[in-house]
Amino acid sequence: MSLSVVNIGELVTNDPNLGAGTLGLLRDAALVVEDGRVVWVGPSSRCPDADENLDAAGAAVIPGFVESHSHLVFAGERAAEFEARMTGQPYAAGGIRTTIAATRAASDLALATNVTRLLGEYRRAGTTTVECKSGYGQTVHDELRSVSIARCHADDATLLAAHVPPPEYAGRADDYVRMVVDEMIPACAPHAAWIDAFCERGAFSPEQTRAVLEAGRAAGLGVRVHANQLTAGEGVRIGVELDAASVDHCCHLTDADVDALAQSTTVATLLPAADFSTRNAYPDARRLLDAGVTVALGADCNPGTSYTTSMPFVIALAVQALRMSPAEALWSATLGGARALRRTDVGYLSPGARADLVLLDAPSYLHLAYRPGVPLVGRVVKGGRDFRAG
Ligand code: NIG
Ligand code: FE
Repeated sequence: MSLSVVNIGELVTNDPNLGAGTLGLLRDAALVVEDGRVVWVGPSSRCPDADENLDAAGAAVIPGFVESHSHLVFAGERAAEFEARMTGQPYAAGGIRTTIAATRAASDLALATNVTRLLGEYRRAGTTTVECKSGYGQTVHDELRSVSIARCHADDATLLAAHVPPPEYAGRADDYVRMVVDEMIPACAPHAAWIDAFCERGAFSPEQTRAVLEAGRAAGLGVRVHANQLTAGEGVRIGVELDAASVDHCCHLTDADVDALAQSTTVATLLPAADFSTRNAYPDARRLLDAGVTVALGADCNPGTSYTTSMPFVIALAVQALRMSPAEALWSATLGGARALRRTDVGYLSPGARADLVLLDAPSYLHLAYRPGVPLVGRVVKGGRDFRAG
């Protein structure tokens, strides 16, 4: 079964060999999809025949967004904490414990339903690949069911074994880390692709972070880190040392952090919706980009710091608050996210890529930042399948 999309006014391929600039832009283009993959890209006037045809009528087509950082396995919500923050309370890592209590008390079905609800939101807003973390269980039993649910519904599952020391380990974070290394990682690693830890004051120290990440890596998991979100700690340097695919947040970086990232293959994933929702400092994206660091953008959907699934919102925010160009922001939300997940099949639209694409109700991708808050996502195609006729 093949599908052609013709009369694309502006096609973002993210393949500089196919079109103009880093985004590989083509005008009046078409593409053909077969068995879930892109098999042809070129001028609309020369599009080969396909079983089905979709007329884009001059609209822009972009690769589906790749979300490399989300926390969807949770119960409850924290609107009251948000209100307290907006009326003067600072954000601290401790709020995570409220969600841990609610998550532990929830059934598997309730947790899975929450994940699928949020994945539906992501998809309707144009995201076709989602990484999903555990981290609101923090017992072997609750992390195991969290990571299993994440794996079942999302594209990539991450064991966030060290999110915050749970209440029963208050003042005994080292004991918690020992339990994570001896019991949680062996039980959960077969169900996850990644290990993650929150290296921060109020969460885990550099030594504790390193112990968890090294144990995860020894169990065959790829490494990612919540690093330098609230303070300039050692998270980024630990991530680079352990060849993390991505270090995430990166709001407080030293020159040494930026240099280390620039000389590595570790991606800096920026999550400006979390900084927006906590009124914390935004990361300095220009400093990273100018140093040659690969930058990804994520929405970081979670009930505490960033309860949004909208990558278009993140792009608009990145352009305004992080001073990224619209092209940089789109690249970081698509191919940048794929790099952060070390995936080579998504985030671009040239022959061989998974056919994940979004038809915008707009003539250009520029409208994602130019028309903030407007629902511009029309059809969303994932693996060649049409998820929503707009
Ligand atoms: O990515 N930084 C730690 N983890 C989440 C926040 C989780 C929460 O507050 O529930 C984040 O922002
Ligand atoms: Fe996070």
